[in-house]
Amino acid sequence: MSMKKIAKKLVSKQRGILAADESNTTISKRFKELSINLNEENRRSWRNLLLTSKGIEEFISGVIFYDETIHQNSDNNQSFINLLSSKNILSGIKVDKSLHKLAGSNQENITEGLDGLSERLIIYKDMGLSFAKWRALIVITDELPSDYCISVNAHALARYAAICQEQSIVPIVEPEVYIEGKHSIYKSKEVNEKVFKKVFTELIEQNVDLESIILKPSMIIQGDKNADILSAEKIAEINVEFLLSNVPFQVPGIAYLSGGMSDDDSISILRNINQYAKEKETPWEITFSYGRGLQSAAMHEWRGNNENIIPAQKIFIERCKQASMARQGL
Ligand code: 13P
Repeated sequence: MSMKKIAKKLVSKQRGILAADESNTTISKRFKELSINLNEENRRSWRNLLLTSKGIEEFISGVIFYDETIHQNSDNNQSFINLLSSKNILSGIKVDKSLHKLAGSNQENITEGLDGLSERLIIYKDMGLSFAKWRALIVITDELPSDYCISVNAHALARYAAICQEQSIVPIVEPEVYIEGKHSIYKSKEVNEKVFKKVFTELIEQNVDLESIILKPSMIIQGDKNADILSAEKIAEINVEFLLSNVPFQVPGIAYLSGGMSDDDSISILRNINQYAKEKETPWEITFSYGRGLQSAAMHEWRGNNENIIPAQKIFIERCKQASMARQGL
């Protein structure tokens, strides 16, 4: 399948992406909060629970994996990649090597992982993976972000995207502006504007084909420690107007991350964004690429206990269904 077709399929009507690519460190944090034992078998069991949920293919177009999971099998001894492919779901992979201290700055981070990326992608492609993900994180405080941090992260994101496309892998470009902080929604918008300008300048300079990427931004929203909360309708309007001014029409799809928003917000704001986007006749598909937004409630039900698998799967599928409806503005 061509990269354009893969990108279109990932954001096809009614469906969105499941981000199940938590690194071992990140999933350990989630497990620890629920007193789930931290071991490889539990990580496999959790992903097995998600991916074998009945009806997942109706709502999910692609799943992003972490490297460990692509070497694992389902309870029925089928590789997770083959299991998904039998359900018409694309498999992707997180290829960045997480955040590292940014040299020349005391407080900010750079996402690493470019070294040997080409070689890793060749292996991933052979295994049947068709898309990849790289997350840059931009933090807001009274002093941050620095232009330097935005600039080097944008450069790395575009380098990653160019390398992916050279190997016919669709890059998900994720410039996350962090929700943590006291900032207002207007500050979030201002920072996102700077970040998007830099990211698209870099993508274009590095000859990335914008028709063969998926953009994965955070929603423009107030910081989690800011009590000045606008209605979902107003937040949606700010987001869609922002996209109209900052995202080239060639990009086929925008797949938001859930970024620690509440379950209710991640659905209601996405629904309002799609309603407003329809009115404005925006050129892109607008969908979800949620990690916590799809998984949290189900993981709370499961808690590492086999007896809770069926009810946890029901909760997971219900979340997928709600996100799918919201993605259609319903
Ligand atoms: P959340 O939806 O939990 O933010 O995860 C999405 C993701 O892929 C972050 O990189």
